[in-house]
Parts: sequence; C-alpha cells; structure tokens
Amino acid sequence: MSNYVITGANSEIGRALAQFLLAKNHEVLLVSRSAKSVADSTVKWIDGVDLTKECDLLRLREYIRKCFSTPFTLIHSVGDFWAHKSVTNTSFDEVVSQIQSHYVTLFGVVKAVVPIMQAVGGGRIIAFSCNSVRYNYPDMAAFTSSKAAVECLIKCVANEQSKYNITANAFALPSIKTNNVLETKPEAFHKNYPTLSELSETVEQTIENLSPLVNGNVISLFKYSDSFYHKGYYERNIIWEANQDERVGGLL
Ligand SMILES: NC(=O)c1ccc[n+]([C@@H]2O[C@H](COP(=O)([O-])OP(=O)(O)OC[C@H]3O[C@@H](n4cnc5c(N)ncnc54)[C@H](OP(=O)(O)O)[C@@H]3O)[C@@H](O)[C@H]2O)c1
Repeated sequence: MSNYVITGANSEIGRALAQFLLAKNHEVLLVSRSAKSVADSTVKWIDGVDLTKECDLLRLREYIRKCFSTPFTLIHSVGDFWAHKSVTNTSFDEVVSQIQSHYVTLFGVVKAVVPIMQAVGGGRIIAFSCNSVRYNYPDMAAFTSSKAAVECLIKCVANEQSKYNITANAFALPSIKTNNVLETKPEAFHKNYPTLSELSETVEQTIENLSPLVNGNVISLFKYSDSFYHKGYYERNIIWEANQDERVGGLL
C-alpha cells in the first residue's frame, strides 16, 4: 500500500484514478478547486484549492504535512481542455489560462510538496503531458507549448531534487476516452482511445514498479491506431476554429 496525493481530483482522469487507487487500498488524499464530489466521509479530500494561489498552496502544504509522515506520490491531473484552434483564433485569455492551468499549477504544487517530501525521506512527482509535444501539431499551440513547459519543469525538478530521493516523471498521454475527447473528436476514432480504466491501471502499475533510478523522463503511453500510423495529421483530425461556424470539417 502506497501514499498518493491527486491534484485535479474532479478532473475526469483524476476521478478515475482516485477510484482505482482507493479500490487497491492505497492511502489517497484528493485535492480539488471545485467542491468535493463524493459523499463518503472516509475519503480524505481538501477542496477549494486554486493551485495558482499562494495562500491555497500553503494551506495544501499544511494539510499534506498532517496526512503523510512517509514518502508519497503526487499525481498532478490538472489543466484546461483544449479544442483545436489556430494561433490567430486563440484569445489572449485562452493562452493565459492554458499556461496557468497546466504549468503554473504544477510549479505551485511542486513548491508546496517538495519540502514535505524532503522531510519524509522522498517521494514521486508525476505530471500528465501529451504526445502532441513530440509532434507539434498545428492548431494546438497554446496547449502543446504549455505541456512542453510541464515536461521541462519535470526534468528540472528531477535533476534538482534527486539528492533528496525525489523523482519526477511525466506521462505523455494520447487522447483518452474522456467525455471532452468523445465530444470533440470524430466518432470513427473513438475505438482507438485508451479507456479511463486502462489508463488508471497502467498509471498505477507503472508508478508502483518505478525504480528510483527512473527519473526525469517523459513516458509515452499509446496503443496502435490504424489512423494514427497510416494517415497524416490533416487527414485524421478536425480543425476547430474559434467560431463554430468556421469549423472546417473533414478527416484529419
Ligand atoms: N483527456 C485527455 O485525453 C488528455 C490527453 C492528454 C493529456 N491530458 C491531461 O491529463 C490531465 C487531466 O485531463 P482531464 O481530461 O481529466 O481533465 P479535465 O476533466 O478537463 O479537468 C481539468 C481539471 O483541471 C483543474 N484545474 C484547472 N485549473 C486549476 C487551478 N487553477 N487550480 C486547481 N485545479 C485546476 C480543474 O479543477 P476543478 O474541476 O476542481 O475546477 C479540472 O478538474 C490534464 O493535465 C490534461 O491536459 C488529458
């Protein structure tokens, strides 16, 4: 049994992971900005935590300090969803929200947990990135560049904190079968996306078997997809523009 903190506990992936880890009898602390979404009072949950606000991060740090006196794993499942659109159709507010929700939140949580991890003898930090960082697709600039910053931060933290027995790695995810993805991607491709339970099982197994020598990596998760391997980007995606009327249909 291991100790876990999940930030973004009300995200689709965070919720699925939480259920899976609790079912495996791990000790889990859930953290969300929005209200706690389970009635079970035995589930440890701190809500109302905006991970871009220093006062909330300090409150979170004290809460975690009281919960765990031995090493724990942080899984950061936070960041706003992105519907494809070009740079010219991305508003300034949207790009600020992307960099804040993906990168600034991770920096804040790392700052909050690292002193506790150092004090309890170590820990693991896991962030979710996306395989778009490897491919630099068009129409995803605000999201992909924010995730690139996430990956870079993870590598910097790994180098800086390894002397304290703290590791940091990122999982680069493909599209996962979340509601947001199902609503915005062509139905024909849905069968290609890993399910939330496949992802939860893979994440848990990988973390539980992760040697402390595995540090500063971006671990890609994907499965075979005929369209992914045999079609170019523009053949298998739909380009989403700011105005739904401008949406350019077609198989990317
Ligand atoms: N879904 C996919 O296919 C996919 C693919 C690649 C990578 N990922 C990554 O996996 C992670 C989870 O994805 P998801 O689809 O499950 O996400 P989601 O359902 O869209 O949820 C995003 C979460 O981010 C939280 N959040 C945003 N800004 C925050 C802030 N300032 N402070 C605290 N929480 C904040 C929201 O919290 P509240 O609800 O509490 O407000 C929300 O629960 C994200 O990093 C995402 O980029 C997902």
